[in-house]
Amino acid sequence: MAGRVEGKVAFITGAARGQGRAHALRLAEEGADIIAVDIAAQVENVPYPTATPDDLAETVRQVEALDRRIVAEAVDVRDLDGLKAFVDKGVGELGRLDVIAGNAGIDIVGPWHDMTPEIIRTTIDINLIGVWNTVTAGVQHLIDGGGGSIILTSSANGLKAGPWNLAYNMAKFGVTGLTKSLAMELAKDHVRVNSVHPGGVDTPMANGIFGLPDNGFERGQKENPDLFGMLTQWIPGMMPPREISNAVLWLASDESTWVTGHALAVDGGMTQY
Ligand SMILES: NC(=O)c1ccc[n+]([C@@H]2O[C@H](COP(=O)([O-])OP(=O)(O)OC[C@H]3O[C@@H](n4cnc5c(N)ncnc54)[C@H](O)[C@@H]3O)[C@@H](O)[C@H]2O)c1
Repeated sequence: MAGRVEGKVAFITGAARGQGRAHALRLAEEGADIIAVDIAAQVENVPYPTATPDDLAETVRQVEALDRRIVAEAVDVRDLDGLKAFVDKGVGELGRLDVIAGNAGIDIVGPWHDMTPEIIRTTIDINLIGVWNTVTAGVQHLIDGGGGSIILTSSANGLKAGPWNLAYNMAKFGVTGLTKSLAMELAKDHVRVNSVHPGGVDTPMANGIFGLPDNGFERGQKENPDLFGMLTQWIPGMMPPREISNAVLWLASDESTWVTGHALAVDGGMTQY
């Protein structure tokens, strides 16, 4: 039986680990080839470890174990020229581009007065402008191929502001707006654009933040305990990254051909109150 995205090629950022790796594997399981990038280095101002070259190599190994093709390179989503050069190279090797998944991101948590200009700039540069760069680097290939699907990772915090996450909220609400704007303009080219809004996902980001000895959520909660309830999701526990990948797979596939400009929350209900 043909896979649900058989023969498609997907460009995924932040693919070295966490949700990005899960998206690469889920799409590969259903027949897609992958163009993968990750910074694969420590991001400045981020207090938890970001991915390593070994993490990116492991994504390559796992996709190849599924008998799909993958090209991967360490590229920073802040580097538009670098992204474009690598996507062009990947399309040259894999033949086409159908899906863009702008997933790379960081989260620097803390009360509003902890937010330095450097934290605000790094977060906006990666989580918002980096997503715009990702689309800009690849979208012409989708248009040239007659259409495609762009899936941008926002957050529950791109629909409902989360406490002690000011820079992140700014960027993730921006991704929600970027999605709707692009969806409107690109529909005539048969390019669909949707955002996904994860709740708490069991990845090195979330575990890294909560594992910090002095974590920003605890600092915020001490100052302002009433806000902590805003983080409650109805389904208990942390969701596996594959739950988000299943939403990405549906949006990438031809099962969602008339879905565009949509903000799809996969968050155990967190944003629905
Ligand atoms: N984990 C959660 O609870 C959660 C919830 C909502 C939204 N999100 C979002 O989901 C996306 C994936 O996060 P995750 O949970 O898999 O975290 P993660 O930290 O495990 O993965 C993010 C990846 O992005 C990469 N990255 C960071 N900056 C980069 C840059 N400048 N250029 C290229 N790559 C870069 C990291 O190296 C890492 O591999 C992010 O956009 C995040 O904001 C996560």
